[in-house]
Amino acid sequence: MSASESGNIESVLHETRVFPPPAEFTPRVSFKTEEEYEQAWQHAKDNPAEFWGELAQENLTWFEPFTSTMSGEMPETKWFEGGKINASYQCLDRHIEAGHGNKAAIIWEGEPGDTRVLRYQDLHREVCRFANVLKRMGIEAGDRITIYMPMVPELAIAMLACARIGATHSIIFGGFSADAVADRNNDAEAKLVITADAGWRRGKEVPLKIAVDESLERSPTVEKVIVYQRTGADVTMVPDRDYWWHELMENESADCPAASLDSEHPLFILYTSGSTGKPKGVMHTTAGYMLGAQMTTKWVFDLSPEDTYWCTADIGWITGHSYIVYGPLANGATTMMYEGAPNWPDEGRFWELVEKYRVTLFYTAPTAIRAFMKWGDQFPQKADLSSLRLLGTVGEPINPKAWMWYHTVIGGERCPIVDTWWQTETGGIMISPLPGITPTKPGSCTKPLPGVVPAIVDESGQEVGDNQGGLLVMTQPWPHMLRTLYGDHERFVDTYFSKIDGCYFAGDGARKDEDGYYWVMGRVDDVLNVSGHRLSTMEVESALVSHEQVTEAAVVGFPHELKGEGICCFVTAKDGGSEELKKELTQHVRKQIGAIATPDQIRFAAALPKTRSGKIMRRLLRDIAAGRESAGDTTTLEDFTVLAKLRETED
Ligand code: WTA
Repeated sequence: MSASESGNIESVLHETRVFPPPAEFTPRVSFKTEEEYEQAWQHAKDNPAEFWGELAQENLTWFEPFTSTMSGEMPETKWFEGGKINASYQCLDRHIEAGHGNKAAIIWEGEPGDTRVLRYQDLHREVCRFANVLKRMGIEAGDRITIYMPMVPELAIAMLACARIGATHSIIFGGFSADAVADRNNDAEAKLVITADAGWRRGKEVPLKIAVDESLERSPTVEKVIVYQRTGADVTMVPDRDYWWHELMENESADCPAASLDSEHPLFILYTSGSTGKPKGVMHTTAGYMLGAQMTTKWVFDLSPEDTYWCTADIGWITGHSYIVYGPLANGATTMMYEGAPNWPDEGRFWELVEKYRVTLFYTAPTAIRAFMKWGDQFPQKADLSSLRLLGTVGEPINPKAWMWYHTVIGGERCPIVDTWWQTETGGIMISPLPGITPTKPGSCTKPLPGVVPAIVDESGQEVGDNQGGLLVMTQPWPHMLRTLYGDHERFVDTYFSKIDGCYFAGDGARKDEDGYYWVMGRVDDVLNVSGHRLSTMEVESALVSHEQVTEAAVVGFPHELKGEGICCFVTAKDGGSEELKKELTQHVRKQIGAIATPDQIRFAAALPKTRSGKIMRRLLRDIAAGRESAGDTTTLEDFTVLAKLRETED
């Protein structure tokens, strides 16, 4: 596969194949026919309050009923006001009350091969005990708690325990650095950090506690740290600040009633990258988010009690929040969690897991699919994948070649593929095929779910015609949309609601074809999508310029065979630059942000190409990074004089 093929856009533009829903697939709990879907979609568009109100009444357990389904214009729409609810009750207690306490809630496998199964009653007991621990540590409803953990069941337990008492969790992906943790602690004014000694990744320990220690040197709001012992790594425990999870849990009571919380009580904050250097604390509230997570899981994955469902994301991202923890558990289903890397001890690990646990529904990212393709068919072919009945993807556009491989090699041509478009901000899946009823086209996320009303518009907000590229917006509010950016409501309004009048602006470019299918082309802002992870170019730039040798830096994305998008950094350095400095800068960025921001290319330049008004010519840099503009054979760009002509036309 060439770089340009994986660059999605070219190949997606020429894609014309249509795959009818596989005859082998019969929806168990989701929509049964296209007409049923069309009717629901139209009804939800015309009467959103009726549509969502009925779903909320039927599917959520209310301690007190809501008095108004939706009120206020977007972006200030409030949902289910007057109602009292609890997300952990929704995920646990009501299933136990219905007699399903013995059903497996979480099937977990650690990277070294250790396994655990937590039934609903086990998970409930641990959540209640840990919620009592939190209370004893002085945590109250509304307090913010940072969670920085490996993929162990205790991560889900910690989340649900926060939800049980109304504390707002802010989970930070374990791949972020100490500096990133400190920034997020401070922005959220977190009172407590929950972490582990370390986690396993490709046979090595990821030293989480050490990073937390470093972050706390500049996190004044954090009072205490709870440490789950995962690997037995050597860690320093600071007296009166650091506490072992297992010691706190000893003798703790399992009796902890779920707090009765307002529908709009903040459930969690999750930081994501925007177009400035400062991460945004996307805030979701309880009832609307839970309804979205629960219904979309049911509709899109057809998740039934008989299924074993595995979403391979990390819980540190929104996909893990909604589709490993809240969505599947709210449906009373069995969700799988795997701690480690897909290529440990070898490249067949995922497929062995599918065979071992007879996984029926499998949800992963295009970047992973491209890696599997590269590793070779022999790995999936060694395993029995016949249990699979549905496949999903998320995080970035999927190139048709990867789609076809997923369809044939993994899905045996019998599994529908749901290509799900959504965002941290949307809380749940927005545009996706419904399995078994929507014909699919490789590379298209197809049609909006009921309750979702998108449009493709130009800069002035005018809807564009079929197959014309434009900006993807939502014209109506939905219950699981973000409510604010923590501590910065103005930035929230500015970022999402001021670009196109009356609409939610997603930040993606897309087109709609003659069948009403959406084709998402990628970000239109300065956000990179590297292996399905969002990163802002400014974030990487400010990390680079914080190095003493760097005078100026410009960061752009370029098509990358595996990652979808790679990170290319143009740097002007005081001493001109050297191989040595390249290594140092790579380390520096990893330290400032984390391993996910590791630059793929660092190119030194005597000066960055600018317009006469001083703006960096990013388009030109993107062309150079992608190899579309020849910049000589060396990786070092001595200067840009050859491109000076372009500079003039750009101005
Ligand atoms: C991109 C991940 C094309 C998109 C759930 C969006 C996609 C960003 C798809 C959100 C898809 C996600 N097809 N692009 N199926 N899914 N994206 O917040 O650019 O980490 O804006 O949420 O990923 O990334 P986030």
